[in-house]
Order: sequence, then C-alpha cells, then structure tokens
Amino acid sequence: MISRVSHPWWKEATIYQVYPASFKDSNDDGWGDIPGLVSKIDYLHDLGVDVVWLSPMFESPQADMGYDISDYQKVYARYGTVQDVDNLVEACHSRGMKLILDLVVNHTSKEHEWFKESRSSRDNPKRDWYIWKPARYDANGNRKPPTNWRSYFAGGTWTWDELTQEYYLHLYASDQPDLNWDSESCRQAIYDNTMRFWLDRGVDGFRVDTVNKYSKRTDFVDATITDPKSEWQPAPDMWCNGPRIHEFLKEMNSQVLDHYDVVTVGELSNTPDPERVLDYVKASERELNMIFQFDMIRLGTGDGFGSKYVFKPWKLSEMKTLVERWQKFIEGTDGWTTVFCENHDNGRAVSRFGSDKPEHWENSAKMIALWQATLTGTLFLYQGQEIGMTNMPATWPIEEYKDIESNNFYQEAARSSDVREKDRVMDGLRILARDHSRIPFQWDSSVNAGFTSPNTEPWMRVHDDACKINVASQVNDRQSVLSFYKKMMTLRKRHADIFVHGTFQLLDKINEDVFSYIKHSADGSRRAFVVLNFSDSRKELPALNECLSDSSDWQLLVGTTRNKREEGVLNAFEGRVYVDF
Ligand code: GLC
Ligand code: CA
Repeated sequence: MISRVSHPWWKEATIYQVYPASFKDSNDDGWGDIPGLVSKIDYLHDLGVDVVWLSPMFESPQADMGYDISDYQKVYARYGTVQDVDNLVEACHSRGMKLILDLVVNHTSKEHEWFKESRSSRDNPKRDWYIWKPARYDANGNRKPPTNWRSYFAGGTWTWDELTQEYYLHLYASDQPDLNWDSESCRQAIYDNTMRFWLDRGVDGFRVDTVNKYSKRTDFVDATITDPKSEWQPAPDMWCNGPRIHEFLKEMNSQVLDHYDVVTVGELSNTPDPERVLDYVKASERELNMIFQFDMIRLGTGDGFGSKYVFKPWKLSEMKTLVERWQKFIEGTDGWTTVFCENHDNGRAVSRFGSDKPEHWENSAKMIALWQATLTGTLFLYQGQEIGMTNMPATWPIEEYKDIESNNFYQEAARSSDVREKDRVMDGLRILARDHSRIPFQWDSSVNAGFTSPNTEPWMRVHDDACKINVASQVNDRQSVLSFYKKMMTLRKRHADIFVHGTFQLLDKINEDVFSYIKHSADGSRRAFVVLNFSDSRKELPALNECLSDSSDWQLLVGTTRNKREEGVLNAFEGRVYVDF
C-alpha cells in the first residue's frame, strides 16, 4: 500500500507558477489580475496542473514586482481583492486543484506599517523588528555604512535614515528592509499576520521566498574583498544559512504549518553543498517539504554578484554534472526535491538550453518537456513554458526591460570606467534577464496576444512572435508543444514510480551533445532510458544494449519528433524515452 507519509499529495503533483501581472487581464487596464486567472483555470486543469503557485499579489508599491509587500492581508488593487483570492481558492478546490501563495517574509516594503513604526524612533517597540546599526566613520570623519556588503540589486545593503541617525539593512532594494527574525515578537507577527491569515482562508501552502536568509550572522563584519573594483563585496556567508535558520524553520512548522495539510517549497540560493541542502528537506527534520536549488538554472550566469549578467558560456557536461548531483542527493534519504528550468527570475528555457531559431524552436521546446517530465521530484512549470514561449527579441532596447535588477545592473555597467562593460551586460541581459519570463502570456494571435484588449497598452510589451507562438494555435494541434506537454505530464503520472520517484543514473558524461540517463523505479523492477540531443545537428543514437551491456528489449515509449524517426540517428534537439517493461 502506498503510504501517505512517504507519498503525500504534493510529490506527484505538477505545480504551475502564475505571474499575476502577465497572465490574463480581465478588465483591460494592461495588467493581469486574479479574475483573469480564474477565467483560465479550466485551461490549467486541462493541461494537467494540480497546484497553482501564485506569485505575490499582495498590497505593494511594486518596487520589486510585489516582492516588496506593504500589507500582507490586502491584495494589490490592480490584481483584485481578498474576495477574488477566495474565489480563486474555490475555483481550484472545486476542480480538485490546490493553490499556494508566495510567502515573502525575509523583508517587507518600506511602506509596511511595521517599518514605518520601526523607523519612527529608536525606542519604538518595533524598532528591533528590522535590523538597525550605527554608522562607522573613516579617518577623515566621513560616515560609512556598518559593513561593505553588496546587495542583490547592485549597491550596498545599508540605507541611512536621517530621522533616527542609523542605517537599516536590506539585502535587496532599499525599498525592501530585512525583518529581524531574531526578534520573537516579530516572528509571532509573521506567523499570525501572513501565514495563518491565508491558511485559514484555505490556501494549500507556500512557496517560501528567500528562505535561507532569515537568520543572519550577528557580528556584522566586513566581507573579504573579492571584487577590488567595487566598494561593495559579495557577502552571502554573512546573511545566508545563518546560525538560527533551522531553529526558525522548525518553529514555523510546530507553531503554524503542522496544523494544516499544506506544502512548502523554499527558495534556497547560495547553497551548493548537498549535505547542507538535505538539512532543509529531510522529512524527519520538519522544515521544508522541498526546495529550489539553483545551480542548474544559473548556468551561463556570470560569477559572483557583480558579474551576474556577464554571460558565461557553459558546456553540456557541466549541466549533466549539476542535474546528476541534484537528482541523486535525496537518494537513500527521506528528503524530497523539485524539477524546474524556468521561473520569474530567469530567461526562458527554450532560448537558454535549446534554441529559439524558427527551425529548432519546436523540437527544443518538446525536448525540454521530455527532459523535465522524466526527472525525479515535484515538477514545476512556469507560465508559457508549456507553449514554448521564448526570450524577448534581441533587438529590443533596455527601455523594454522593466525589472529593477536589470536596470540597476545596466546602470552600474554604464557608470563603469570600462566602456565595453555596458555592452557586455546588455548581451547578458538578452539571455539571462528576469524580464524575459515576465512579458504577457500569449493566448492567441490577435494584437496583444489575447492578454489584454488590442486597444490597451500592456504593462510590458507583447512578444513580436506572439502571432506564431500562442495557445490558440497549439491547443487543437495534437503534435504541438502544448499537446506534447500534456502527453508528457500524463506519462509522468502513469509511470510515477520511474519518473517522479525513481533513481537517476547518468550515462556518457563527457558527451557534449547528447544527454542520456536511465531512470530506475524505486524497487528496481522497471527502467526508462532517456536520450536528449542538446545540439543543433544530427547525432548518433547511443547503442543501448552496448552501453548497458545487457540484452533487454527496449521499446520506444515517447519521442519528440513529428516526423518519422530515423534508425540510429537523433535529429537536432530530438528527445526519446525507451522502456524495458
Ligand atoms: C526572490 C524572488 C525575486 C525577488 C527576491 C526578493 O528571489 O524570486 O523575484 O526579487 O526574492 O524578494
Ligand atoms: Ca487588469
């Protein structure tokens, strides 16, 4: 019998991320909204989605697209109302689906009442809900921030507050002050005001934003200088995976989450060591059900913080190593993992890992579907991935990039004494920027792609290719990317013992064109052989019986090509799955 303990509902679920600003606009103001999402729930249900993850829709000044929340219990007016969220919960539940929200509690907006109180005086009771420190002074008496740490969005992590004559800490924009989790009353307010409020309304869990930054080192010392050109130094060791993080997560469970049947998936950056990641996801530890580990999705991202957008070419063998590591790290443990290759913080998978050239686009998109659907863990899809949406056209200028991070990195490069830096960063943004995934969803071939009315100006420009890549043109084509995603998600569930729960065995690690692996069912009785041509030319199909030195009768389960398959040859970006049962 399948145990509810080792097989809870969320392991075999497919979770689909919706970015509210860009999914569907119901009232033609150019912004997506919750009623728009509700109107498309049947589309998601039909696709085979089990859980919707809605990115932040809370009250916010939108300095960082809603990851700067000024009231956790209100909904941003453009997105709708609390009643609309209740309707969304109902729309999901009535179809047997679930809804999870984004829990953004490492920081608030600087417009949150808590921060307004905290900054109002040094002896305000909420002063220590945020992290305030006195200035330092150099030999000439110039005021300096408490440390030399670089923030995510370029610049330092401290902002001076005139009124109370201290600096406050922010790992992201200065609009996003970090909450002080070391304060007991602050933690209680978070549990009550943000978590219980929404759980009691019926939401089924959270994607937990920047979860490993709640606990910071408390000595507040300078980071070692690794980027001598800059005043600000990368300092993740100072504020990531800090001394009390596991205590906080256990408390969050015992006080809140354990009282509901919900799922959590944590965003776990800057943690490359599998042993440390396991500490967060071992079921017996009761911290997080699973996490997003970013090594694979960061392929091509530049080194360190300052060079994030200077593109770094990568090899397929590097990708294989990372996929292997993050597939295998839970084997033999009670931990769990995730499968994903897109989200709202990265470029589109087709453009980054496949090819968005017209002749390769469809094959690449299907190969990525096949790849993702055969990996172990809970599968996450990002809106538009299922129709093969691509990066914004390379010809679009910086003005089309709306993200605070893209803009800050671009401006930083523009100020550099090296005149080529600006072009380097722009080239990197064309591949890696967070903006690519944030443009409007492509529903049909009309002006504005059915996202909003043709007469409305959408908040971000609609892709020039929307007339070619859209739901309407794919939904009735049984060979389309969309139909292929549906097919793969069905196969994934039918053979969940292999694809969702199986163990991973990498083959032919040094091959820089073809990615192949075996998935074994947990009891070892069934196997699948997955082969993916990540190159834009024809490649030899590895001879299975030779590389496995056995004589099993391998049968094709599924393949990506519309055309007749060639004996012994994989076409550009072709993928296949063979099974021996
Ligand atoms: C997470 C979000 C990202 C946001 C940041 C700050 O990384 O995914 O979009 O900018 O947290 O909240
Ligand atoms: Ca709207």
